This record gives sequence, C-alpha cells and structure tokens, in this order.
Amino acid sequence: MGGFLKSSIARKLVMALSGLFLVFFLLQHFLINFTSVFGAETFNGISHFMGTNFFVQFLLQPVLILGVIVHFVMGIVLEMNNRSARPVGYVKFHGSANSSWMSRNMIWTGLVVLAFLGLHFYDFWFPEIYHKYIVIDPEDPMRYYPELVAKFADPVRTGLYVISFIFLSLHLLHGFSSSFQTVGWHEKFYKGMRGATVAFSIIIPIGFIFIALFHYFNQL
Ligand code: HEM
Repeated sequence: MGGFLKSSIARKLVMALSGLFLVFFLLQHFLINFTSVFGAETFNGISHFMGTNFFVQFLLQPVLILGVIVHFVMGIVLEMNNRSARPVGYVKFHGSANSSWMSRNMIWTGLVVLAFLGLHFYDFWFPEIYHKYIVIDPEDPMRYYPELVAKFADPVRTGLYVISFIFLSLHLLHGFSSSFQTVGWHEKFYKGMRGATVAFSIIIPIGFIFIALFHYFNQL
C-alpha cells in the first residue's frame, strides 16, 4: 500500500476520488444552506437532524473530515513532486499555450479554499463541537438559523466568503472535469460530462455567494 501510494498515478487517483467525494458533499451542503434563504423552519429542521443524528455525526462527519485532509495533503505532495520534476517553471514553456490558468494554479486556488475552511470551521464547526461535546449546552432545535444569519452581519467576513467562493469556482472548473479523466472514463463520456462539470463549477459557487449576500443585505 505504501509503495502504491508513492506512484504519481495512484496519488492522482486519490486526488480525483477524494475530490469527487468533496464535490458530492458540496452539493448537499449547498442545498441545505440554500433553504436558509426561505426562512428558519426548514433550515433549522434539517440542521437539527444532521447535528444530532448518530450516523451523520459519528460516521459521515469523520469520513468527510478525513476526505478534506487526504485531498489537501495529497495535493501538496503532488505539487511538490511536480516542482522537483520540473526545475524550470511553466512560464518558460509558455504553459498557457496548452493548459488553462486554472490547471496551472490548482495549488493556489486550493490553498485559498483551505484558508477559507480555516475561517469557516472557526465560524461554524468549532462552536458546534464546543456547544455539543465540550460544554454540553442544552440542545435548542431553533438555534441554527440565527447562528448562521449572525455571521453574515459582518461585511468583512461576507466579503471574504464571496472571494473564497470565486476561488472555489476556479478550483472546481479544472478539478471537477479532470477528475473524470483521471478515473479513466471513456473519452466520449468525459467530453459529454465536461459541460455539466463546468455548469456545476459556476452555478454552485454563485449559489453560495447568493446565500452570503442574501443574509448580509437582509440585515442592513
Ligand atoms: C454561504 C455559504 C456557506 C454556509 C452558509 C455554510 C454553512 C455551514 C454551517 C452552518 C456549518 C456547520 C455544520 C455543523 O453543524 O457542523 C458548515 C460546516 C462545514 N462547511 Fe460550510 N457553509 C458554506 C459554504 C461552504 C463551502 C463553500 C465549503 C467547502 C469549500 C464548506 C465546507 C464545510 C465543511 C467541510 C463543514 C464541516 C461539516 C461537518 O463536518 O459538519 N462550506 N457550513
């Protein structure tokens, strides 16, 4: 297993599979958060279920966190290997002639998304863990919506979220479609899927931007 993971094909495969898993998470995360635009009731209901369900908390959540860690650690390892195998920078090879800006800058767009996750966990995930497993505050099924809305009262935070979602879009625009190529889908299927992956990579981040701005302007 250790030897297998040392091959660059295997590492790319791990990147692609963990990336596809995170895309799936992103879709469900977007759909749940989007309900907050229509009011508190549905969002509170789903959040309370997700936050208290044993299967979600102790199986899905650890798998998700592991997926995030594997994806970013492997991304950094791949980038370092590529750099040591390519002592002369892309620019000298006129990289833009045969590769997109997005494909050449996956590490940078990825690092911005990672920095966003740091802020995002500080905003939501750590308070949640603290509330439930450290101080063990009483459960209030109505608390999720006001907690979310309160974060978007701050224009700086809302701005940072919006910028991060633009970088997320750039990251997905290359990553999502290329993961299908890496897992070895037939060329015809890959070409057919490309349009859908591009649409997803633009629509979902715009949707997240909409949620953030909606709650910000709703409180002015
Ligand atoms: C407007 C946009 C977003 C809002 C309002 C939002 C809201 C939330 C909330 C309320 C939680 C806490 C869930 C819990 O109770 O544990 C959460 C967790 C999380 N969010 Fe977001 N989120 C947004 C965008 C994103 C994006 C774009 C990503 C990924 C790039 C992301 C990744 C995560 C992850 C990994 C968690 C931890 C999930 C868990 O283990 O529970 N979020 N988010």
